[in-house]
Amino acid sequence: MPKKSLADLPASAFADGVTVVRFDLNTPLENGSVADDTRLRAVLPTLAALHGLEARCVLLSHLGRPGGQPAPGLSLRPVAERLSELSGRRVEFVPAVEGPELEAAALGLGPGEALLAENTRFLPGETTNDPALAGSWAGLGSVYVNDAFGAAHRAHASTEGVARAVRSKGGTAVAGPLMERELRFLGEVTSEPARPFVAVLGGAKISGKIDVVEALLERVDRLIIGGAMANTFFLALGLETGNSLVEEDRVPLARTLLERAGDRLMLPIDVRVADALSDAATVRDVERAHVGPSDVIGDIGPRSVRLFTEALAGARTVLWNGPMGVFEMANFAAGTVELARGVADATSAGALTVVGGGDSAAAVRAAGVEERISHVSTGGGASLEFLAGASLPGVEALSDRED
Ligand code: ADP
Ligand code: 3PG
Ligand code: MG
Repeated sequence: MPKKSLADLPASAFADGVTVVRFDLNTPLENGSVADDTRLRAVLPTLAALHGLEARCVLLSHLGRPGGQPAPGLSLRPVAERLSELSGRRVEFVPAVEGPELEAAALGLGPGEALLAENTRFLPGETTNDPALAGSWAGLGSVYVNDAFGAAHRAHASTEGVARAVRSKGGTAVAGPLMERELRFLGEVTSEPARPFVAVLGGAKISGKIDVVEALLERVDRLIIGGAMANTFFLALGLETGNSLVEEDRVPLARTLLERAGDRLMLPIDVRVADALSDAATVRDVERAHVGPSDVIGDIGPRSVRLFTEALAGARTVLWNGPMGVFEMANFAAGTVELARGVADATSAGALTVVGGGDSAAAVRAAGVEERISHVSTGGGASLEFLAGASLPGVEALSDRED
């Protein structure tokens, strides 16, 4: 059922009371400041829209996994500072998650102003979806905006509980612009993709993405598998994988998938190997049948890069999730960087291209092609669950358009 969005609300909805906004500002910190501001930049249009509506905003987010108690290294204070710099408007930090201090600060907000509360996961009730905690946020106002796509797969107090609590007291819970954009692009890929539809999966493990592989297999014209995920398929083909990362217990699954997929499934034909996965290792490119017992596979080889980018060249829809190798190390980055360029070139040739997954998004940025991808999702786990066909509790809890 379609959900209400921010654009469905009249400006008068923001005239009285506070608007509670959930963002996913879960961002890596280094030495007390934001190390990657991608998720912050992604919510700037939403902040600008709320400012334009003269909303008084209490912003909520989690950061890391503090386990229900305060952790000084996981305070959102540096995030508020960065958000103020990026938006050009002060986002006041309030060192309280809920309660009188937050309420007082919220009451002091003027039209168009925003404050950021402390990390929601500093309280145990966040992840247990405690109705009392959700109710305390719902008590702040009658409009709730969920723009935290990256956390939409979590049924937590600040994502699911608060939406239901706001609605049960007669208020409205809507999707923010970033949430809408994510659902639109990922929805387009999963529902009616223009064909040929080529999906590329990679990364560390099949086990984390089985549901995605199975869901996509039914829908794609071509499924390309690289990264360590491919190694388990190599085992299923009876090939030597040396000391590479493999999941022995998933070999039967890989065999079944190979049979079901037929020639729709494409694996690397050559690989980049070394004695160890290290920055200093000397690498060799070998045919996949020539991996030695003491080799470790760290990347796809150059012939595979050509094969995969050729498959991308004819695509009209491309979905990419999971790096082709250990792209964090320069000597194993080429396959992932070339693939990112291939996806960007497909966009230029008219394809709709979508990249999901935290590491894949980082790889796209590292390759310098972020602007040349139709949509780079801000969701890691959330985008995988969506692609596997799961419904997202943070979205389900929002007001229906007909309400
Ligand atoms: P995403 O976050 O995009 O969903 P994953 O988390 O599934 O991606 O996988 C990313 C990780 O997979 C990276 O840290 C990368 O180093 C690792 N990886 C990719 N290929 C290999 C390989 N051949 N051997 C070991 N690790 C690999
Ligand atoms: C993410 O980074 O994937 C989201 O912020 C969700 O974080 P979580 O996996 O700790 O719930
Ligand atoms: Mg990852």
